[in-house]
Amino acid sequence: MLKHPLARLDRDKTLRTKLLPFCRLQPGQVWRDPLRGHRVGCLDAAVSQDVQTLCATERATLAIHDLPYNFIAFETQQVSNFVAWCARVVGNTDDVLAKDSSLYLWLGADQRNGFAPLPEIMLMMRSTGFISRSLITLRNQRGYGTQQNWMSVRQELLYYIKGKPHFTPQYTEIPKTVKGYFKTISGELTENTARGRGETLRAGNVWIDVQQVFYRMEENVNGCYAQKPLKAIARIIDASSAPGETVLDFFAHSGTTLLAAEMAGRRCLTMDIDPIFCEITIRRLERFRRTGRTGWQNSNPFARELGQLQEEEAHE
Ligand SMILES: C[S@@+](CC[C@H](N)C(=O)[O-])C[C@H]1O[C@@H](n2cnc3c(N)ncnc32)[C@H](O)[C@@H]1O
Repeated sequence: MLKHPLARLDRDKTLRTKLLPFCRLQPGQVWRDPLRGHRVGCLDAAVSQDVQTLCATERATLAIHDLPYNFIAFETQQVSNFVAWCARVVGNTDDVLAKDSSLYLWLGADQRNGFAPLPEIMLMMRSTGFISRSLITLRNQRGYGTQQNWMSVRQELLYYIKGKPHFTPQYTEIPKTVKGYFKTISGELTENTARGRGETLRAGNVWIDVQQVFYRMEENVNGCYAQKPLKAIARIIDASSAPGETVLDFFAHSGTTLLAAEMAGRRCLTMDIDPIFCEITIRRLERFRRTGRTGWQNSNPFARELGQLQEEEAHE
């Protein structure tokens, strides 16, 4: 039985041929969750009609997109092409966001290539109707680099709004250790720890308390190569949406946003262009509901089918 890490599912052609027959969505199709109304579409985020197919008349208050720079579609493409493509995705998102809503864009900045595509995307966003609110950095635990440079441990997260969406400050589990920032409030000298609204540090725009996903973690989905931590997505959802509201993610991959939305009592409309990642997204939700597990730490989403195929091959 094949239990351990799968190869990169976007690249291994033999594995893809084996897995595609087990995927319930064909391009253009949408899976509708019978329990909570989530949707997963095998669709293209850059095609306006596909976004309409996913959302129909729904309007979301939050979109969280993990833009696939350097993955699948853009490995050989120019930054300018990528930015023009992102502009289409953002325009399509705008069409299905509510009047008061938030848009988060996960993005890398390649220090070996003029920090592309971060500055280009920031400039592109200035010509949309979205208003910039924050540039968040998530600190990875592992990084890349040489002894001649600062190890790269950043993941960037751009936060934009339109209208006046609500925002709920989020708190980390990091205790406030530095005391003594005195300030006089209503004639009384107060210390920072007395002034704050929480016992712990508020999550600012640098997140050092989120563990990036790696194979030893319960939430790890073997075969997915760009999985975001559930904790980070949960923080965004809690800050920028209310229970019962709808969250969008046009790049589902391992289905992190769908799962975080399920846990937080939000509805999620998500898509991926690749039927294999759509299937993984649906399976991850179904498995969570069955077992409470958030990933496949010591297995993989297609372990049963691949095990059967291996047995059949062994008998041939
Ligand atoms: C960076 S990953 C997203 C990771 C995700 N946030 C997670 O936590 O698992 C990008 C995903 O976008 C998908 N993708 C690439 N081009 C797309 C397109 N035009 N429309 C929809 N999905 C696309 C890829 O198949 C890939 O699964």
